[in-house]
Amino acid sequence: MAQLKRRWWKEGVVYQIYPRSFQDTSGNGIGDLKGITKRLDYIKSLGVNIIWLCPVYESPNDDNGYDIADYRKIMAEFGTMQDFDDLLAEMKLRGLKLVMDLVANHTSDEHFWFQESRKSRDNEYRDYYHWWPAEKGTPPKRWSYFDIDANAWKYDEKTDSHYLHYFSVKQPDLKWENPAVRKEVYDMLRFWFDKGVDGFRMDVIPFISKDTTYPELPKEFGGDFIPFYSNGPRLHEFLNEMNNEVLSKYDIMTVGEALGVTIDQALNFVDEDRKELNMFFHFDLMSLDRDGNEAFWMQSDQWKLTEFKEIHSKWDAVFSEKGWGTMYLNNHDFPRAVSRWGNDSKEHWRNSATMLQTFLLTMRGTPFFYFGEEIGMTNANFERLDDYKDINTLNRYKLLQQQNIDLEDFIENEKKASRDNARTPMQWSLDTHAGFTNNTPWIKVNPNYKTGINVEEQEKQSDSVLNYFRKMVKIRKSHLGLIYGGYQLVLPENEQVYAYTRSLDTERYLILLSFSEESTQVAIDDIEFSKADLLISNDECQTEKTNHQFTLKPYQAVVYQLH
Ligand code: NOJ
Repeated sequence: MAQLKRRWWKEGVVYQIYPRSFQDTSGNGIGDLKGITKRLDYIKSLGVNIIWLCPVYESPNDDNGYDIADYRKIMAEFGTMQDFDDLLAEMKLRGLKLVMDLVANHTSDEHFWFQESRKSRDNEYRDYYHWWPAEKGTPPKRWSYFDIDANAWKYDEKTDSHYLHYFSVKQPDLKWENPAVRKEVYDMLRFWFDKGVDGFRMDVIPFISKDTTYPELPKEFGGDFIPFYSNGPRLHEFLNEMNNEVLSKYDIMTVGEALGVTIDQALNFVDEDRKELNMFFHFDLMSLDRDGNEAFWMQSDQWKLTEFKEIHSKWDAVFSEKGWGTMYLNNHDFPRAVSRWGNDSKEHWRNSATMLQTFLLTMRGTPFFYFGEEIGMTNANFERLDDYKDINTLNRYKLLQQQNIDLEDFIENEKKASRDNARTPMQWSLDTHAGFTNNTPWIKVNPNYKTGINVEEQEKQSDSVLNYFRKMVKIRKSHLGLIYGGYQLVLPENEQVYAYTRSLDTERYLILLSFSEESTQVAIDDIEFSKADLLISNDECQTEKTNHQFTLKPYQAVVYQLH
């Protein structure tokens, strides 16, 4: 702790909102800013104190707002700038902080800069994007996420050139090597900070620097584009410049989405002395249960708890003296936490949802919850292609169709793995469409809002997932040791129970989390347990204090304070 400086963003709990799916008030079937304002008292009641808002800027929605057409305008479907200002003012009144999404690796192809850039080779915005003139031949292969040919170069007839797009054809990559682009980004950041915004989550930030000679993929990357994309030659120079020019001037937080960043590179981003970012999301856990390539990976249920522990133990250690980590189990790009890491069967849903909440709230690193996680929302498991709205699913389907790959297998996999699992509307009540909208929702509501997974019903039950979440958040916030304390893994080999201690000066905690469908017994020998307070448990506790035996019910979570 001596080394770790106290900061508001280390002590906060983040609540991520996917605005499209949170609360519709205008009646168009799409969530909006007024809907978020309307629900602020609810959000405040959770005990969280930072909201991360996914993009709300003007966008043609090729990728639901991650394709921005104007960084200083609000998407009409979501409301107006006045609605935004009202939301921010109401948040400030409640002591809530607002973190926005910075999507600056790419823009929409409908952004004015790109519209200009594609007009002629000598347009003043030409060099805002990456262009490859056709007379140089076929550009070296670049892989793209959402392209139906997996090709990141798109030929544009008007100027007989190809432009680079790591994501969809409608998401051309900005050329950060051009100082004018960086200045635009910094000015735009100032615009939002001057409004009072408290920080940014930075979309695929490690991808911003490119080798503008566009070489063939170097051999050392073994054919894998992601580590290549995230290791651009000027990345740290740009992050440092952004920090000097803008970030350091405000009391704000930054969290990078750090695809491709490995443990040994971690401190290059968040060591305070380097003045780059505050935190980032690593992807090691998100790939633990996935196999295959980016176009068609299989999601499996067969991951090992020992590996899950190892990932978290390694990442905790890297930030134990410098930097700071993040904790998350899902977001708008991944399946729902309880379906993926817990067990969403009727029998185990409640315990596993609360056990996973306990996990995030007792680890070091800022916890990020995704809307609906507080009530244990589950995967939608859409069966039909028609139900999917996400470009990632739809375009990979087209890509695989061309390759004659079995599409039934693909949909079977998407049922568990698709991003749309996390994008179904918030389940507020038993009203039509779960109280999300009075119109047809843009994406189907998960029918399980009728069977207990909704806010209204859970408010009334003292032992609901929702009320457990509130208690657990309070516990984290009132025990500094759970925030800053050192972490020590206990029982590293156990495949059923994740056990660890957290310690700060004289404060000490023991956390036991069962990831098993069966009752389990564990013996923890080397911990003095005679004077322990039970801080919380999501089920009835059976502890034999004298011989250090613990019997845990399926998916039970227990937090003790040791004296
Ligand atoms: C990461 C975002 O989280 C994801 O939703 C988006 O599709 C890509 N970056 C492209 O912006």
